[in-house]
Parts: sequence; structure tokens; C-alpha cells
Amino acid sequence: MDERNSLYRYVEDMEKWLEQFQHTMHELDKNPSIVFDNETLPTIQKQLNKLMTDVNYYKNTPQALYKDLMNDLQKEASALYNGYRSILHSNSKKNEQKSKVEKKSNSKKSSEETSEIVPIGEHKLPPLPYPYDALEPYIDSEIMKLHHQKHHQSYVDGLNKAEQEMEKARRKNDYDLIKHWEREAAFHGAGHYLHTIFWNIMNPKGGGKPKGELMKCIKESFHSFESFIKHFSEAAKNVEGVGWAILVWSPRSHRLEILQSEKHQVLTQWDVIPLLVLDVWEHAYYLQYKNKRDAYIDNWWNVVCWDSVSKRFNQARKVKWQPY
Ligand SMILES: [Fe+2]
Repeated sequence: MDERNSLYRYVEDMEKWLEQFQHTMHELDKNPSIVFDNETLPTIQKQLNKLMTDVNYYKNTPQALYKDLMNDLQKEASALYNGYRSILHSNSKKNEQKSKVEKKSNSKKSSEETSEIVPIGEHKLPPLPYPYDALEPYIDSEIMKLHHQKHHQSYVDGLNKAEQEMEKARRKNDYDLIKHWEREAAFHGAGHYLHTIFWNIMNPKGGGKPKGELMKCIKESFHSFESFIKHFSEAAKNVEGVGWAILVWSPRSHRLEILQSEKHQVLTQWDVIPLLVLDVWEHAYYLQYKNKRDAYIDNWWNVVCWDSVSKRFNQARKVKWQPY
């Protein structure tokens, strides 16, 4: 009965999400700067109508509520959301930006790939891949709801704001507040990306042990699965103040590693891959430039090897998660 109630609430949440989605689509329709793709829009409308009909059916037919069906609804919602993204990308302004990027990178991208970009300041809260109380008794529904709807949403909003402000700074060539907005982008961006990973690495059917290549790599990196669990748990328990324990793949050492993250940003966004780095520790310039860090930075551009940066970029861009 509890499970049935939780599925029912999931359907209700989905219904609210669809209402918001419909409203957003309506607003987009009224926006003169958006140029609709003639094929995409009817597809989205069809998907939206089908999903609304399905949700309405399950809501009014409680005996039809099964977890598998909820997974189907989730898949339909993801497809719908991807379509919505591609509509955003079909507006002429973004297409203009896109073709500039395409010319610069001189690469052959499919239209599907480019439609996956999250435009500046347009991150969205990803839907949870299960109902709020699905992880009970381990994590209760009230925590999940607050954590997802309030905390994660505020990271999304904060990241969007920071990205928009930094875009404004670039446009106006005014970087007086760049330190502040970089901090905001790191704090909210790391929050958004880490929570998106967090929701998706949990599942009511979770637990047990990994299999295959992951298990093999865990054993190579930590000797045994048990010592990995112990190390990860101790790292989590010993985070100073607030933060995260994070299992990472190191593309350099070809091993897994366990890291702690105090708070979660330290001026970076977890889930991103560095491409171009500039060392501004004093040891990198002081003997030659003394306190003139600006001069060192200005001159440094003369020795940047863009071929190397491109190689890293071409490898890194193969990693593509669901955009949110
Ligand atoms: Fe959190």
C-alpha cells in the first residue's frame, strides 16, 4: 500500500511538472526571438499530449500503478525535455553562435550533438529518477523533497545568475566583479552538478556490489571492495565541516581515487574537465616578473600550444552526460 501511495504521489509530481512544462512552452511560443523548427514543435506537442494522457490515466486508475510504468513515464519525460532543449537551440541567435563555434573547432558535429548544449544561464533542475519516498527507510521523503526542490533548485538558480552576470561582464568588458561571480559559479555549479550525479547514483533497488570492469578497477585501485568501502566511508565521515566524499577516475594515473571536497566548490565545479591551465603560483613567475603577475599572464599567451589544448578538448568532449 505504501509503495502504491508513493507511486501515486510520483504521478502527482509528474503532473505538476507537466503543467509547468506546458506553461513554459506557451511562454516560448509567445517569445518573438524564438524561431521554431517546423518538425520539432509538433513532435514535442505530441509527446507532451501523450505523457499528459498517460499521467491522467494512471492518476485516475490506481490499480494500474506499477514501478515499471513509472520508469516508462520517466523516459517519456526525459525525451520531452530533450525536445524542449532542441527547440531552444533552434532560435536563430543561438544558431548563429553555434555556427561560429563550429567554424572555430573545425569539427563535424551532428545536429543532435549541438542540441545537447545547455545555453548560458539556462540550467534546469533535473527530475528525480524515482519518487521522493522511494529511498525510505534509508532516506526519508521529506529530506528528499527539500533537498531536491529547495536546495538543488537554489544551486541551479545561482549558477544561471552567475553565468548570466559573467556573460554581461564579457559583453561590457567590465570585470570588476569577476572574482565574486567566479566564486558564485563555482559554488552553485559544483552544487548543481554534484547533486545531479548524487540523485542518479542512488536507486531503491540499489546496494550489493558492482560487477565487471568497475569491480576489477576497484580491486586494482584499493586492493579489495571491502577496503574501498572502508576508505570511502572514513573519508566521508572525516570531511571537515560540510562537503562530499567522491570516487573519481584519474585519466592520468589510470586508477580510481577517493577524494574529499570541503563544502563543494573551492572555486571549481566538479564534473568538469580542465582543458587550458595557467599556473599563477609565485614560483611560476616571481624570479623573472617579481610582483608583476599581469605581465607574466599577458606574455604567457604567446606560448600557449593550441594543438595540445585541442587534443584535450577532442578527448574531453566525448564525455557527455544528460544536459541539465
Ligand atoms: Fe545537498
